Amino acid sequence: MAHNTVLITGASSGIGAAFARILPESTRLLLTGRSEERLRQVAGGLAGAPGRAEVIAADLAGADGRTAVIERALASGIDLLVCNAGLAWSGRFLDQPVTHQDETLSVNLLASVELLHALLPDMIARARREGRRAGVIVLSSMGAFIPAPGLACYGASKAFVLRFTQSLAAELAHEPIDLLAVCPTYTDTDFFVRAGLPQPRRAMAAEAVASEAMDSLGHRTVHLCSLHRYPQTLRRLAAFNPALAAWRWPRQIATLLQAFALRRDTWRQRGVPQPR
Ligand SMILES: NC(=O)c1ccc[n+]([C@@H]2O[C@H](COP(=O)([O-])OP(=O)(O)OC[C@H]3O[C@@H](n4cnc5c(N)ncnc54)[C@H](OP(=O)(O)O)[C@@H]3O)[C@@H](O)[C@H]2O)c1
Repeated sequence: MAHNTVLITGASSGIGAAFARILPESTRLLLTGRSEERLRQVAGGLAGAPGRAEVIAADLAGADGRTAVIERALASGIDLLVCNAGLAWSGRFLDQPVTHQDETLSVNLLASVELLHALLPDMIARARREGRRAGVIVLSSMGAFIPAPGLACYGASKAFVLRFTQSLAAELAHEPIDLLAVCPTYTDTDFFVRAGLPQPRRAMAAEAVASEAMDSLGHRTVHLCSLHRYPQTLRRLAAFNPALAAWRWPRQIATLLQAFALRRDTWRQRGVPQPR
């Protein structure tokens, strides 16, 4: 179903910009991120009437930025919210300043909670009035299902938004609104460079993630990206409990083993008694 007015957070690059590009030309867009210049570039490259996209430069790590975005969205009357802005700082938790963890949790988690709390009542009321359905898409990650040593707060924030979205979907099941948590696997964006990680060799295109999300909205509450290539029974099983999707992630199992080895090494170095 086409939406009239869509707010996309983290629209200045990657998956957020891809959402802006794949939505129908008739859709009005509110694009937000910190970099006004990059937001304007994304807006300038879109098909459709000039002025179709409005740009809101705001830092979601701070309360002022979150309030500014909420006020503009309320004034515009959105009917689809894409909570996509996100970041990670890679490295051992104890080696990093706590400001990195604050920023990660504020953008990845607190911003989604505050935006949804402020915007959902208006979106639901308008959808009821107009006899339409509103929508919310929240970017989680396949990383939400496994421990993430070296990305502890990032992984935990993605697990949080996944369960948060599923819970809200259940609470709002009788309202005219569709909620979807999207779990991309590696996606080809600036995310890794910014997080201080190597770029993965095989990655999905950002447009594919955005298209799969739009196709899934209204059909399920959790979408595991690229699972459509697998038989329906496996897809259903994985959507029921996405942790079961581990059968197709040998890399994730390797990560778990690596995390265990790292912990043992650390214990050994510190002379801590090890579990048998
Ligand atoms: N790439 C992957 O492999 C992957 C996999 C799973 C999930 N995801 C999730 O997908 C989402 C989009 O990531 P991406 O891959 O497209 O990465 P990206 O290209 O780095 O985009 C991240 C977006 O978030 C915005 N952002 C970051 N910090 C912000 C802040 N403090 N305030 C406002 N906006 C901020 C950035 O805009 P500014 O820099 O202009 O502020 C940018 O538009 C994230 O939630 C990420 O966790 C990505």
